[in-house]
Amino acid sequence: MKKLRKDFLWGGAIAANQAEGAYLEDGKGVNVTDVSRGLMYEADDHVIEGRYYPSHEAIDFYHTYKDDLKLMSGMGFNCFRTSISWARIFPNGDESEPNEAGLKFYDDLFNEMLELGMEPVVTISHYETPLHLYDEYGGWENRKLIDFFVRYCEVIFARYKDQVKYWMTFNEINNVHTIPFAAAAIKPDKTDHPMQCKFQAAHNMFVASSKVNKLCHEMIPEAHIGCMLSLSGVYPNTCKPEDVLGAYQLRRRSLFFSDVMMRGYYPSYVERWFEEYDVHLDIQPGDLEIIKEYPSDYLGFSYYRTTTYKDGMPILGHTGGIVGEKNPYLKETPWGWQIDPVGFRYVLNELYDRYQKPLFVVENGMGNVDVLENETVNDDYRIDYLREHIQAMKEAVADGVNLIGYTYWGPIDIVSAGTGEMKKRYGFIYVDKDNDGHGTLKRYKKKSYDWYKKVIESNGEEL
Ligand code: BG6
Repeated sequence: MKKLRKDFLWGGAIAANQAEGAYLEDGKGVNVTDVSRGLMYEADDHVIEGRYYPSHEAIDFYHTYKDDLKLMSGMGFNCFRTSISWARIFPNGDESEPNEAGLKFYDDLFNEMLELGMEPVVTISHYETPLHLYDEYGGWENRKLIDFFVRYCEVIFARYKDQVKYWMTFNEINNVHTIPFAAAAIKPDKTDHPMQCKFQAAHNMFVASSKVNKLCHEMIPEAHIGCMLSLSGVYPNTCKPEDVLGAYQLRRRSLFFSDVMMRGYYPSYVERWFEEYDVHLDIQPGDLEIIKEYPSDYLGFSYYRTTTYKDGMPILGHTGGIVGEKNPYLKETPWGWQIDPVGFRYVLNELYDRYQKPLFVVENGMGNVDVLENETVNDDYRIDYLREHIQAMKEAVADGVNLIGYTYWGPIDIVSAGTGEMKKRYGFIYVDKDNDGHGTLKRYKKKSYDWYKKVIESNGEEL
């Protein structure tokens, strides 16, 4: 039976806005997450004085990254995924010259990773568009952002070309539909035509991605640049044909994004959506050609849970649990996320069959309420979750899936993107901080820390 490849990338993943803090330090500008208390809340127009915003301090990774990375390396990570905060490099997003202090921070960060034997895996935009690009241009609905993004990428590719070989453009790009402000710096409900706004933003991001794929290959020939989607799975709620067809249609709402970015063209099924929603994309000469010529090298995706589709539910946007009926066969986390390792094997097969290009699981994990006792956390529930998911991932590889790596989400406790909480913990490392921002920020190893270390040491054999 086929096993995980010898050079399998094992590690963990975080995002700048959920970990770094230091939200205005060394010239950084305000980004879309800095005015939000979590994706469940409506973002403010600007930072309101006196209000608590979790990203402003987060876990202070900006200052603690050396010690934190040592802890990661203690588990044997050979890669580490994080994002570059765009507003550290271009505080407003539209400047012509970058901010040297921001560039220097990531220089040091990536060097530290490399010294510890970790390949940096870098998300270029993880819910971190500079706020000014919304205020001044209306976000990704505006084509001008393509050039700003390309300029930003030119700068980071030139600077980090010797350090970073794994890149991905937009985190969970399919979330343009469900969390548009975070994913695309747009507020569709404030426009005359929300659907037009979302699909136009997506189009502009597709063009930007392909331009940047081209640039990356020219500037760093040995690099791999992928796209990244939220692809937790969806089942029909029953075998009623309407449920089955509906589940398929719902899944397409997400796969549409990878279809364009992985295959290089708009799939035929979108014509009908565009007609129904009266969407008329502004497609400029050259757009479709660049999308065709420079698709993504690999598909990075997050997988947390599955959901079910029942006839009559609206078919819009997300496929992974934000919408949908509960599955009676599955248990769930305290946040109601249904735990489904079999679904993981299913999704890995589904995606590989569809694209026949390498897959990279860049997020998977369990958010839970952890209790610190005697300076540790007995998180057997997390170990169980992981054991079952890694087993399922190995089954998928034995099924023939070409998988290059696995980065567990939130190997150290960070701010929850969805709720802004610290209480929703994913880490192997506990961080002493609560939902209101109180705590010493001290780090403690949980039981899962040594467990994951053994998994990596044995290349997934010892579960
Ligand atoms: C993914 C995001 O959707 O899920 C991460 O890329 C996020 O940023 C993760 O943190 C888990 O979600 P949450 O809401 O539990 O933090």
